[in-house]
Amino acid sequence: MFEPYRAAADIDVVPSYFPIPGLGIVPVNAFVLKASQPVLVDTGLVPLSDEFMETLSSVIDIGDLCWLWLTHTDQDHIGSLWRVLEAAPKLRIITTYLGVGKMSLWNPLPMDRIYLLNPGQSIDVGDRTLTAIKPPSYDAPETTGFYDPKADAFFSSDCFGALMSEPVDNAAGMGAENLRKAMVFWATVDAPWLHTVDRSLFAESLGRVREMSPKLVLSAHLPVASDMTDKLIENLATAPEAQPFVGPDQKALEAMLKGITG
Ligand SMILES: [Fe+2]
Ligand SMILES: [Fe+2]
Repeated sequence: MFEPYRAAADIDVVPSYFPIPGLGIVPVNAFVLKASQPVLVDTGLVPLSDEFMETLSSVIDIGDLCWLWLTHTDQDHIGSLWRVLEAAPKLRIITTYLGVGKMSLWNPLPMDRIYLLNPGQSIDVGDRTLTAIKPPSYDAPETTGFYDPKADAFFSSDCFGALMSEPVDNAAGMGAENLRKAMVFWATVDAPWLHTVDRSLFAESLGRVREMSPKLVLSAHLPVASDMTDKLIENLATAPEAQPFVGPDQKALEAMLKGITG
């Protein structure tokens, strides 16, 4: 876990990083949107649950949370889901039918604590209305991000992530070329289907983010990106043509382990 920081006056980032041996580090962010009905966006990594709960409680009284926006049910997004549910008795989980279905494969969500919202639908959280959006790339079918018009922020889930070499707290701080490479690499790992996608349909889906033109892009896997939405879109647009990702094989793993053990 790293220290929490502000993405905007009403948005706190609860950041951590996950190392992927041989490839780099992936930021794993949750967000606290301080709407009049406060919204937590995702719940971090399973192995860092104690640290996550501690850091979260330093930015908000967890009992005050009204909503958990669960972008999808991957392990790096549900790390403290059950603990948050317990600590915030009035909180309801915004997810989709598929999200509920996938959770029920191992630990069903309580039906009276869920709120089903599909892409294109909106929810009022007191002082603003959030609209659910299917991001242009994702790794799980239930994935739903959202747009907050008051903060002018697009919460993009796994989309626009980056596999980085070192932690930074602002995407612009990575340098343009470094950012492009890190984003394209992440996209080939997280969404290998991009290589087979119809290019014009993918361009249309990126175009919808360009039209939305949010000031802030808040990805689960990228440091905060402010005033650089066009750049992020341009970078992701090149991912389908990039080299497909192939993981290390057994021979490479043995070489890695030999390197570690000497
Ligand atoms: Fe994911
Ligand atoms: Fe993720």
